[in-house]
Amino acid sequence: MHMQIKTVGVVGCGLMGSGIAQVCAASGYRTIVREVEGARLQKGLGRIRTFLEAGVSKGKLTPEARDATLGHLKGSTTIEDLGACDLIIEAIVENLDEKRAIYAALERVAQAHAIFLSNTSSLCITELAAASMRPDRFGGLHFFNPVPLMKLVEVIRGLSTSEETYRQVFAFAQSIGKDPITAPDRPGFIVNRLLVPYLLDAVRAYENGLGTLEDLDKAMTLGCGYPMGPFTLLDFVGLDTTYYIANIMFEEFREPAYAAPPLLKRMVLAGRLGRKSGQGFYKYEA
Ligand code: CAA
Ligand code: NAD
Repeated sequence: MHMQIKTVGVVGCGLMGSGIAQVCAASGYRTIVREVEGARLQKGLGRIRTFLEAGVSKGKLTPEARDATLGHLKGSTTIEDLGACDLIIEAIVENLDEKRAIYAALERVAQAHAIFLSNTSSLCITELAAASMRPDRFGGLHFFNPVPLMKLVEVIRGLSTSEETYRQVFAFAQSIGKDPITAPDRPGFIVNRLLVPYLLDAVRAYENGLGTLEDLDKAMTLGCGYPMGPFTLLDFVGLDTTYYIANIMFEEFREPAYAAPPLLKRMVLAGRLGRKSGQGFYKYEA
């Protein structure tokens, strides 16, 4: 049965949720983004406004397009507001219990036909689907940071995702201007399976005295043409998120390549989460 997607819900308006809500709204979907409380919601919506303003200043976006995007967007702190959605993308913290709880709560308010998608970086889609009551209308849609600029999304089919849902999600990804690939339901999917061991290895190399942060970053930008060195990228992704991903991947594969280095753990414990907290491997202006 084909269903038309008109209203999209996004759960979480952090680094990723704000970007996801922005691209959905920019593509003409009525978009409702839900945060746990007002201050976090305002911070996330502020990030969207700043990006759109910068787009106008750079001549990449017309003021009309900015206003249209903002006009399609609604922030909320109540889960009931997601009851109107045809498709809901969850982008909350990378934690199985928290995500399970949100799917149980969504089941109480969502329409029967709505598709649930997780932006998880490493958790098992089949396991998350089992926490909902609609495993056939459940899948993974993995975006990349910064969402408005990165063209890729990974579409993940859980064991129970229906063919119809998979096709709709793939088409939805294209409709928001992304270039999707299909990835298997294995921790890290395709990109993080390759990227996360590299980032963890960079931390281990630094711990072992291979060089300064600046030189290790310079090695990969100027030596390999990467847009960001590993420490700049770690700060950009969030050290907490990287740490959670590493733990989930290690739990599954039991291979040292995925084990979180002690320094990463300590930085997270100290609240040095990267750009979003003002300090990670580097310091940032507020
Ligand atoms: N509105 C519209 N366009 C904008 C914009 C805005 N606000 N800001 C920037 N742009 C455009 C620019 O105009 C530019 O376009 P052109 O190429 O046409 O000139 C383009 O976007 C790049 O912008 P900048 O030149 O300002 O920035 P940059 O060259 O320094 O690139 C970056 C920034 C794209 C973030 C780049 O540094 C990069 O690709 N970094 C790596 C990011 C990465 O690896 N992400 C993946 C993280 S892993 C992940 O997400 C998965 C996970 O599960 C952890
Ligand atoms: P973040 O810490 O920036 O944002 C998470 C947000 O979710 C927070 O603002 C938090 O208040 C909110 N939240 C928590 N529980 C909630 C709930 N019940 N309802 C509504 N909001 C809730 O994290 P992030 O980097 O945006 O990561 C979110 C998800 O996206 C994770 O699953 C992560 O693995 C994944 N992801 C992250 C990246 C990245 O580069 N950071 C890339 C791709 C995917």
